[in-house]
This record gives sequence, C-alpha cells and structure tokens, in this order.
Amino acid sequence: MHRRTIIFAAMAAGFAGWVPQAAVGQGAVGQAAVGQAAVGQAAVGHAAVGQSTESKTAEQVFKNITQLKGMPADQLMPAMQFIASSLGVDCTFCHVQGKMEADDKGAKKTAREMMAMAAEINKASFHGQLQVTCYSCHRGSARPVNIPPVLESDMTAKTEPRPTPPAGAGATVDQIAEKYVTALGGDEAIRKVTSRVLTGKILTGGSETPIEVIVKAPNKRISVTHMSGGGESYTAFDGTGGWLGNTGRPAREMSAPESGASSLDAEFYLALRLKEIFPQLRRGRPEEIGGVLCETLIGSGPGRPPVRLYFDRNSGLLMRMVRYAETPVGRNPTQIDYADYRDAGGAKIPFRWTLSRPNGRFTIQIAEAKVNVPVDDARFAKPAGDVK
Ligand code: HEC
Ligand code: HEC
Repeated sequence: MHRRTIIFAAMAAGFAGWVPQAAVGQGAVGQAAVGQAAVGQAAVGHAAVGQSTESKTAEQVFKNITQLKGMPADQLMPAMQFIASSLGVDCTFCHVQGKMEADDKGAKKTAREMMAMAAEINKASFHGQLQVTCYSCHRGSARPVNIPPVLESDMTAKTEPRPTPPAGAGATVDQIAEKYVTALGGDEAIRKVTSRVLTGKILTGGSETPIEVIVKAPNKRISVTHMSGGGESYTAFDGTGGWLGNTGRPAREMSAPESGASSLDAEFYLALRLKEIFPQLRRGRPEEIGGVLCETLIGSGPGRPPVRLYFDRNSGLLMRMVRYAETPVGRNPTQIDYADYRDAGGAKIPFRWTLSRPNGRFTIQIAEAKVNVPVDDARFAKPAGDVK
C-alpha cells in the first residue's frame, strides 16, 4: 500500500523520478558509464539540483554488486527498470522477492554476463557509445529472436509507407521558440501570470482521483493527490530540490535525477527560457504525431540527457516532450503529451497532459485553473517531520 501510494505520488505530478519498482529517473548521468557530463550539475534554470545520495556508488549502498560497480547508487533502480522493460519481465524473473542481493536465480547470473557482453560490444564496435542495449536484441522478450519470420499471408509484405514530412521552409530554432511564445499569448501575457492553482483529476487504469497542482514562478511546484483511501500524496519541487510525501509518513528527498526532472516540470516560464534551460538547442527532423506535423527541437546541456520537444507546426504549441533518464545499461524514456490548451488568465496552458513510460501511463485532466492566487513559499517546502 505504502509503495503504491508513493509510486502514485511520483507519477501523479509528472515527475520522472524513480521509486522502488517503478524506477524511471531522469537527469544526472553516470559519466564513467556513458561518457556524459557531470552528476549534480544537472542544474536546470534557477535550481541547483542534486545533493545527498548521488555521491554514493551502487556497491556502497547495495549488497551484491559486481557488474555495475562505480555507478551512482541512485541509478541502480532506473537501470533495473530499463532491464525489466527491455526483456518484458518482472523483477522476480531474476530476483528472489525480498532478497534482491541473492544470486539464486540463473537469470540474474545470465543478466550479469549480458551486461558485460553489451559493454564489450559497445566498446569494441561503437567507440564506447551506448548503442547496443538489452533492448536492441531482446525487444521486450526474454528470448531474442534470431530468424526473420515467414510471411503470414500471400499479400506482399508492406513496410509502412512513411512519407517523410516536408522539410518546410526551414524554420530556425529561434522561429520555433518564438512561435511557441506567441501561441501561448505572447511574452507579456505570459509574464503577467505568476502563479496557478489547478484542480482536476488524474486518470489511470480506469480510475479517477482528485488532484491539485500549484505552480508558482519562477520554479516552485507541488501536486497533491487526494487518495481514495483517505490521506494525501505529495510531489513537490521547492525551487532547489524535490521531495515526495504521504500523509502520516516522513517526506523523502528526491534523488538528483528525479530532482532534475521535476525542476523542468516546475519551470513556470519554460517557453520564455528554453535557451537558458538548454544551452544547446538545435532543430531536429520534423515528425508527425497523430497526423499533426510537428517541428522538433532537441535540447541539451551539461549534466542532462537530451530532451526532445515537439511543436505543432500550425499552431506553434508544444505537443510533446520526451526526456530520458540515463543509466549505464540504457536510457529510460518519459513522454509527456500536452493537449486541451486553454486560456488561463491571458496565457494558454495545457489543461490535459499524459505521461507515458515503459512501465506506466496516466493522464491529468484539469477542470479549473485559477491564476495569480497568492501562494506562500512555505507551501512548497518539505515538512520536517511526518507529512500532515
Ligand atoms: C534480467 C534480470 C534482472 C531483472 C529483470 C531485474 N534485475 Fe535487479 N539485478 C540484476 C542483476 C544482475 C543485479 C546485480 C548487478 C551487479 O552485480 O552489478 C541486480 C541487482 C539489483 C539490486 C541490488 C541488490 C543488492 O543489494 O545487491 C536491486 C535492489 C535490484 N536489482 C532491484 C531490481 C528491481 C526492483 C527490479 C524490477 C524493476 C529488478 N531488479 C529487475 C538483474 C535483474
Ligand atoms: C547482442 C544481443 C543481446 C544483448 C545486447 C543482450 N542479450 Fe540477453 N540474450 C541474448 C540471447 C541471444 C539470449 C538467449 C540465449 C539462449 O537462448 O540461450 C539472451 C538471453 C538472456 C537472458 C536469459 C533469458 C532466459 O530465458 O533465461 C537474460 C536474463 C538476458 N539475456 C538478459 C540480458 C540483459 C539484462 C541485457 C542487457 C544488459 C541483455 N540480455 C542484452 C542476446 C542479447
């Protein structure tokens, strides 16, 4: 029960944090493993993200690590999640429940050999880049297929005709970013709003739960899910770091990768600050989302894996954000689809967003948005004792 509510809390707010069994982190990078930039430097915008746990290695925190030595401890769960979704299996495929350190299962031993093999392939053939991962071969199955299938009918096999979207008149990064700002109502209108109190519901697995999301400029955010069994579940970013909490239990600080992701969600003026948040912002290939042609931007910066942004070429609005949590075995994707843009105090915001990961998906539908409601900063602070 406790675990479920925590997972729910983390998912509810759209934060790509990892929690036991639902590990999907974001942000900080194991430089040794993937040759990317520094941990703890995952500062997004105003936030100096990342303290505490990320300096410990996996073997300092866990009992029986031989293959993933040197990896930051808070990447272990995201790595495990990556492996489980790559093979399409549960944790118990390799682990004895409640005794994760035990090596009783053959699959766990095989998995260690596979980690070594994948690392070897990447080193020998791909300049050490993480090109071949568990998913490259396994594709969601424990047993990779090595023989192409025969035809199942005598109709000629058609590989989806994929007309490449017209490259367009070559909108530049600046034009795409500016069009987005204009689509939302313009710089001035956006700046006039400094806080939002959103109420609505979170829809997942056929059930609905009331949710409240409070955001305050420049980068504070808290979401409160009113659990059906009573009690509240919180996911928050206080401007510097993130925390998670449940009524009656001590709040817990987010790991650096989780914090990095939630700081992005908390960015009140994301549209105005794209270039500050992503020091490297370049245009990607246009792509279609559900028949809508989109311009794409790929943003990156020190300490963070790239983030892909999709803008409706017609309306200019942000349709999708995809970000990745780096692990030594591969990247876990988090996709957020934005919809139902409506005016809220002079500037548009999405009233609906869907967050999808390999292991879960939910939608938040906002019913009411109030703007410029005074919100005390204390509202976002992590409670010292148990969450009330
Ligand atoms: C395909 C096999 C496989 C799957 C599936 C898998 N793991 Fe693991 N797990 C491993 C291996 C192998 C190690 C040891 C890594 C090493 O030696 O560096 C490990 C280590 C761990 C450890 C560290 C235990 C300790 O104290 O040493 C934890 C915790 C863990 N896994 C949790 C999980 C969770 C949670 C899931 C499900 C999301 C999961 N694992 C899915 C193979 C797997
Ligand atoms: C280059 C391809 C390739 C890559 C990369 C790869 N595997 Fe495998 N894996 C295989 C093949 C092939 C088999 C099946 C071997 C057999 O049938 O005997 C297998 C089998 C396994 C099994 C045993 C499954 C069972 O039914 O017992 C595990 C566990 C496993 N792989 C884990 C992993 C993990 C974890 C990764 C990523 C770190 C990984 N594999 C990456 C090719 C790959």
